[in-house]
Amino acid sequence: MTANAKKRVLSGIQPSGNLTIGNYIGALRQWVAEQDAYDCFFCVVDLHSLTLPQDPAHLRAKTREVAALYIASGIDPDKATIFIQSHVPAHTELAWILSCLTPLGWLYRMTQFKDKAAKQQQESVGAGLLNYPTLMAADILLYQAHAVPVGDDQRQHLEYTRDLAQRFNHLYGETFVLPDAMIPKTGARIMGLDNPLAKMSKSEASEGHAVYLLDTPAVARKKLMRAVTDSGREIIFGESPEKAGVNNLLTIYQAITGQSNADIEAHFAGKGYGDLKKEVGEAVVSLLTPLQARYQELMAEGGYLDKVLAHGAQKANEVANQTLAQVRQCIGLVAPS
Ligand code: TYM
Repeated sequence: MTANAKKRVLSGIQPSGNLTIGNYIGALRQWVAEQDAYDCFFCVVDLHSLTLPQDPAHLRAKTREVAALYIASGIDPDKATIFIQSHVPAHTELAWILSCLTPLGWLYRMTQFKDKAAKQQQESVGAGLLNYPTLMAADILLYQAHAVPVGDDQRQHLEYTRDLAQRFNHLYGETFVLPDAMIPKTGARIMGLDNPLAKMSKSEASEGHAVYLLDTPAVARKKLMRAVTDSGREIIFGESPEKAGVNNLLTIYQAITGQSNADIEAHFAGKGYGDLKKEVGEAVVSLLTPLQARYQELMAEGGYLDKVLAHGAQKANEVANQTLAQVRQCIGLVAPS
């Protein structure tokens, strides 16, 4: 790296459903904030989505939708590289190489694997689901990323990535940068509106669980008005399970408005839960309105998104192939002549 070269960031989102305000607050918001300071690579991780059953037409549509939502959220394709993971074959090749260095125990310990596998019959759990973190490690290590902006649920996957990079570097010599997770102070774990003890997730089907980035203002307001709270009255931040619903609403409000805990609590002092839900609803709508306008413009502009993705794939392939060539060389694969 030259003296004034920017450090690198890589992150991604699975096109496995409708993006939620949790994805925005935990991940996209940070990406937008960091795109000037870092050399950023943001991918739509379509291959990760294959670890659970997907309808092909739906997956194709969602992959483009997620890429468009990156731009609509404020990622500037002139600053950051936006691409689709499966357009860069190096990801799967490095994932294979890394999986050969991975003790099975490391994979069985992953809490996301345990949670997702528990929802299926044991014999039908796909090998891809177990190997999911190895593909994620390949995504990150190929770009020699220094920082990975993600929500709190990805912490363990980042530790696994570092462990794997260290193991590789130890066996074959310094090859990979050890990446740090970049987790936001506010909103690293937005909870479900229908169940504030469970993480808000794009793959949870129940109505009223999540506000999606493409929900109409009326739907978003309605979902927030129905959010689960408690039987008390106090509108304060707090860790206790009883206050989880109120805490979650305040956190969403804080992530969008940027106000301090004290200012927010003072603002809501003496008000009721109905007022809280209404104001959070308005804050969310103020976030979604310009984002959706940009999204609609983008989708109407024929060919623009494809150009961004083609250019992104070209740039990503260049960087990824350089790292992969180095890896192939140091593990003893014969270079193609
Ligand atoms: P995914 O698609 O589940 O989520 C995308 C990003 O959104 C964050 N996030 C949340 N943040 C706060 N509150 C929530 N309720 C919430 N739900 C999701 C996630 O932490 C994530 O940052 N394994 C990754 C995808 C991935 C990846 C990568 C990420 C594949 N390769 C390389 C970073 C780097 C995932 O499933 O994210």
